Amino acid sequence: MRLTNYYLLLLTLIILSSCNAQKENNVVSLKDSFKNDFCIGTALSANQIEEKNEKEDSLIKKEFNAITAENIMKSMFLHPAKDKYDFAMADKFIAYGEKNKMFIHGHTLIWHSQLASWMAEIKDSIEMKNFMKDHITTIVSKYKGRIDSWDVVNEALNEDGTLRKSVFFNTLGEQYLVDAFKLAAAADPKVDLYYNDYNNEEPAKRQGNINLIKKIKAGGGKIDGVGIQAHWRLESPSIETIEESILAYSALGLKVAFTELDITVLPNPWDLKGADVNQNFEGNAKMNPYQEKLPDSVQVKLANRYASIFKLFLKHKDKISRVTFWGVHDGQSWLNDWPIKGRTNYPLLFNSNLKPKKAYQSVMKLKETNE
Ligand code: XIL
Repeated sequence: MRLTNYYLLLLTLIILSSCNAQKENNVVSLKDSFKNDFCIGTALSANQIEEKNEKEDSLIKKEFNAITAENIMKSMFLHPAKDKYDFAMADKFIAYGEKNKMFIHGHTLIWHSQLASWMAEIKDSIEMKNFMKDHITTIVSKYKGRIDSWDVVNEALNEDGTLRKSVFFNTLGEQYLVDAFKLAAAADPKVDLYYNDYNNEEPAKRQGNINLIKKIKAGGGKIDGVGIQAHWRLESPSIETIEESILAYSALGLKVAFTELDITVLPNPWDLKGADVNQNFEGNAKMNPYQEKLPDSVQVKLANRYASIFKLFLKHKDKISRVTFWGVHDGQSWLNDWPIKGRTNYPLLFNSNLKPKKAYQSVMKLKETNE
């Protein structure tokens, strides 16, 4: 009897260890786990496009099947002077995506930030019209058939849903939105065209975004999707607010993409009031609380937050085309330098040593229990 128990235990141990071994050998990744749901993307820095770091490169190829250029396709880099385009890095970015059979997203054609300085000087409507035609047609035609989707316009809205008084609006009025989408569609009729913004899940800005989409359509523009940037916080926006937005945009017949997902775990500087020097000093230390390490309690909060967000994404996978993280790992995140320079933030699924965090496990777990 005792001997039988011993053999049973041994058998169980052998079975268990072989399961684990199998798990280790099976390459599990975000892109494979979500392959039937939506693309899983990341934003690539210039160094990552050039495959400078072998470990980062293999992580990118293992985990992600969609890419966005974090900076190099913005107008200040791509079109630095009126008669000068610089496609060298963008060419490398596209080649990287093609080589790895990834979904390639273009970011971004018309945006008031990271604008080449000569563009900001444009004063009259004829000059602006000529600029838009040349800029959009040249760039979209160059990559026709090689880019899968474009952010045609980025961040045209104010928080209250009105149109931002950008250089484009100031010279052309709201017609610039229709024109931009028409020009992009004319240059590549098959590419998916997106309007992209932050906070456009919030009710007032969402309503403004809906009006904007209707305007583009009514003016004869082709628009295929809306990008919600998703630079979010641990406590907000609520899952309900995000869900209402997915439903509202998709009711207009658009695809919904989450295009720049990250979750800050650091205090928001705009909560600071007053101008006392000592308070400021205290405030600075308070603003960068996890310089050495992220405490377990916050790590767990982040994991839970990511799990509830991805649970919602899975619920609406039929409406969502892509979920892209704004960076590969915490060490690379723009949130280390924005809105305050030189902090240590932890907004992504991989830490700065490229190791998966609890948040990675919690997102992956949703698929283990689902299927
Ligand atoms: C950010 C980049 O991550 C930074 O490296 C750069 O210094 C500033 O821009 N919304 C956008 C992105 O559409 O292009 C921004 O990317 C983040 C906010």
